[in-house]
Amino acid sequence: MSNSATSRPIRKAVIPAAGLGTRFLPATKATPKEMLPVVDKPAIQYVVEEAAGAGLSDVLMITGRNKRALEDHFDRNYELESALTKKGDADRLARVQESSDLATMHYVRQGDPRGLGHAVLCAAPHVGDEAFAVLLGDDLIDPRDPLLARMVEVQQTYGGSVVALMEVDPEQIHLYGCAAVDATAEGDVVRINGLVEKPATEDAPSNLAIIGRYVLDPAVFEVLRKTEPGRGGEIQLTDALQTLAADEAVGGPVHGVVFKGRRYDTGDRGDYLKAIVRLAAERADLGPDFKTWLRGYVAEEM
Ligand code: G1P
Repeated sequence: MSNSATSRPIRKAVIPAAGLGTRFLPATKATPKEMLPVVDKPAIQYVVEEAAGAGLSDVLMITGRNKRALEDHFDRNYELESALTKKGDADRLARVQESSDLATMHYVRQGDPRGLGHAVLCAAPHVGDEAFAVLLGDDLIDPRDPLLARMVEVQQTYGGSVVALMEVDPEQIHLYGCAAVDATAEGDVVRINGLVEKPATEDAPSNLAIIGRYVLDPAVFEVLRKTEPGRGGEIQLTDALQTLAADEAVGGPVHGVVFKGRRYDTGDRGDYLKAIVRLAAERADLGPDFKTWLRGYVAEEM
């Protein structure tokens, strides 16, 4: 078993952010979709906060053309900071500085967008020979329901790789990677025997969908180098994980953590709107007024 990564602390997070965001055009013509605000923070900041909150202070973003705003957002902005300092606006100054203090940020460009598996492979030189996390920006996990920290814990116990799973309506499984699993002694942990990317409902081995959080053994890089383009002509991370799940000797076992907490999808316009409404309604500062207005609006319109 190549399981060199077992029990070494996990420090690095990889965030693929090279997608074109075509579902949000024209908003994403000149702005990366990751920068679209969810209430008053760009979606990507929630994801970096989640990584930092799970103790992963080294973040590598896989970007592409048109993504400079991402780098600027996680960097200092001295002009703005000095203007706010002069005004004595400590509150807003803190908000500006928050995003540059979260983690040590690194960036690499994907060049050719050849799929999620290819994006993750671009992280190989930075990650080296240690287990690492992957967080997909379209999935936001509520910070009150920590998932990544649990996945890191499970990886430290079992070694190998760990993916996040969530039960979905069988009609929805064609939008996700899907896992065939066996139970373990721990209620929220399953052993993964097989994975298939976006199966039709009738071919799906379960209703357990991969949501965009992974803790991976570095053996995945060697597997990805050999993984042929799959669904949609793209190199699929799910296919590489299937190779790992099929032969434990390659990179240790693959486990799943079944998540039952709050997840918001920001990859689809309708779900993105729902995420904003839910998160705004729950905010202590904005929620009370917003909910009062929302009740009135619903009563009038529906
Ligand atoms: C990707 C993965 C898929 C996973 C999903 C989670 O698909 O390929 O296995 O279930 O993320 O959000 P995408 O949504 O990028 O098409």
